[in-house]
Amino acid sequence: MKTWKGIILAGGNGSRLFPLTHVVNKHLLPIYDKPMIYYPLTTLMLGGVRDYIVISSPGAIEQIKALLGDGSRWGIDIVFRAQERAGGIAECFGIAANDIAGCNVAVALGDNIFYGAGMPRLLSQAMSHERGATIFGYEVSDPSAYGVVILDDNGKPVEIEEKPKVIRSRLAVPGLYFYDEDAVRFARELRPSARGELEITDVNRRYLAAGNLRVTQFGRGVAWLDGGTHQDLYEASQFIKVIEERTGLKVACPEEVAWRMKFIDDAAFESLIDPNPVTDYQRYLRSISETSRRAR
Ligand code: G1P
Repeated sequence: MKTWKGIILAGGNGSRLFPLTHVVNKHLLPIYDKPMIYYPLTTLMLGGVRDYIVISSPGAIEQIKALLGDGSRWGIDIVFRAQERAGGIAECFGIAANDIAGCNVAVALGDNIFYGAGMPRLLSQAMSHERGATIFGYEVSDPSAYGVVILDDNGKPVEIEEKPKVIRSRLAVPGLYFYDEDAVRFARELRPSARGELEITDVNRRYLAAGNLRVTQFGRGVAWLDGGTHQDLYEASQFIKVIEERTGLKVACPEEVAWRMKFIDDAAFESLIDPNPVTDYQRYLRSISETSRRAR
């Protein structure tokens, strides 16, 4: 069995979100009641990933490290690597080359949010393939801001385009990708695009040309949101608020996910909980711990 490592991309200068991102890294901004980066992190945790490389700009790494630490309290391992300038998503393979040598890698963009009961199954399916790449397709009303995949009548990918001007498919490619070791080599051979970036879409194209790209459609059961603009941030926060208030369950709570995935045991989970909680977040952890203790 191949080991899967997770790369979380939390770089860039967040220029579309100025002045919010003037001082604070975009991935630390709130999505309702949690920092944005908790969402992609817990997505990969639900897939069972235990080892992470978080990539960010040199100026933001200390902030992100202060939030996440080395991951040990959540039973995971996190290392941090600097991306000197915003050179594109596909730069991550070069930056993390030593960390991911010999492993498969799940890449999650730090501003992408996934929600839905179907996610764990889709993740484990993607990670059951040791060879090739798995990406996802998600139908959106306006795909022009995304990577877009075109499928043939049998659902096989025939083309992938980055930010197409002419819309030939409404299947956007979310920022969650699963690769074998070839990704490092493919990325090394890339040239910057017109916007001066090493494009993840070009890595996916290389897999497609090699006949090694799987595209799984999310379908209606999964919600995919991102936090790229002020409106996105606001809408994603509202979405999470509605779901959390309606169900009484939190989305993307690393303490809970670590505990439910058995990355940490009951005692370690309880040690993360404030005995006299003053915040909703702490009260929530306390309530799920007490409910489980009563059931034991
Ligand atoms: C990036 C990728 C794009 C993908 C999107 C998902 O776009 O280049 O293919 O669909 O993330 O959020 P960017 O955020 O760089 O515009």
